[in-house]
Amino acid sequence: MQKILVIGATGQIGSELVPRLREIYGNENVIAVGHKTTPPSHLLTGPFLFADATNKQALNDIIQEHQIDVIYHLAALLSATGEKNPDLAWQVNLNGLKTVLDCAVENKVKQVFWPSSIAVFGPETPSVNTPNETIMRPKTMYGLTKVAGELLCEYYHQTHNLDVRSIRYPGIISHQTMPGGGTTDWAVAIFYDAIKNGCYTSFVSSDTVLPMMYMPDCLKATINLMQADASQLKHRCYNLAAMSFSPAELATEIKKHIPAFECDCLPDSRQIIANTWPKSIDDSAARSEWGWQPDYNISKMTIDMLEQIRAKLLITTTNE
Ligand code: SER
Repeated sequence: MQKILVIGATGQIGSELVPRLREIYGNENVIAVGHKTTPPSHLLTGPFLFADATNKQALNDIIQEHQIDVIYHLAALLSATGEKNPDLAWQVNLNGLKTVLDCAVENKVKQVFWPSSIAVFGPETPSVNTPNETIMRPKTMYGLTKVAGELLCEYYHQTHNLDVRSIRYPGIISHQTMPGGGTTDWAVAIFYDAIKNGCYTSFVSSDTVLPMMYMPDCLKATINLMQADASQLKHRCYNLAAMSFSPAELATEIKKHIPAFECDCLPDSRQIIANTWPKSIDDSAARSEWGWQPDYNISKMTIDMLEQIRAKLLITTTNE
């Protein structure tokens, strides 16, 4: 059984990817690594360690001690936080990635997963059905670290024969762990406010369309790509699509279940970031090379989000 290391385990994706990987590969074979944040109890079903993604010695020690075969490196600052602290975004997103790739090569790790993002695209990119290969001139520090990161992954693949695989995630919608500091975070916050307050004020305009994906699809895609036969893959990094919508469109969907729900908009600096990103993504390479297909559209995702968050809030209020 392969031994897996998940760096960034307490984040939005890591906190759900770790339990899913443990279901498949066994609790003891998936080592979760977090940075500072106290781990939620559901991550303590197997090994949990603290380490900084830029600390090479600490990572090398963990990789060697646990004889790691596969690394999922998820630790990163997102777009809005990256604009507030560009130096830290550079340090964590790029120096962190290079540290992980170097550790992987030195310890003969078999595979690395690293997420890229729709933030690699910019205003010069075709914004509808954005192709896998196209102009990538992002305007945010986050996007810039993701473009450089993609190139770094390709370089390590060519130069060191490292099997590193990547997905350009759209905005990820989930109910377990809140996203932190992204431009697509409104698509999660809207559900909590709809249930708790019956209204939501979006920080991007009502007609801002962005590519999105529900967490179960995100987990499925990530694991499927990593399990795909290497001979099938012609790319290191894949566009991935599931749905695209604006705050107005999601509000209409939520109103089907909460008829009195109201959504207005007060755009802030994140609008400027959103304006530079694509509206929809061409993911035909992922579909043809490793069989990608999403399970959730906007209506199926909305029904599940409302159900899950209602249940979660009920448990929280009952325990108070
Ligand atoms: N969800 C991310 C963000 O908004 C995009 O990769 O920053």
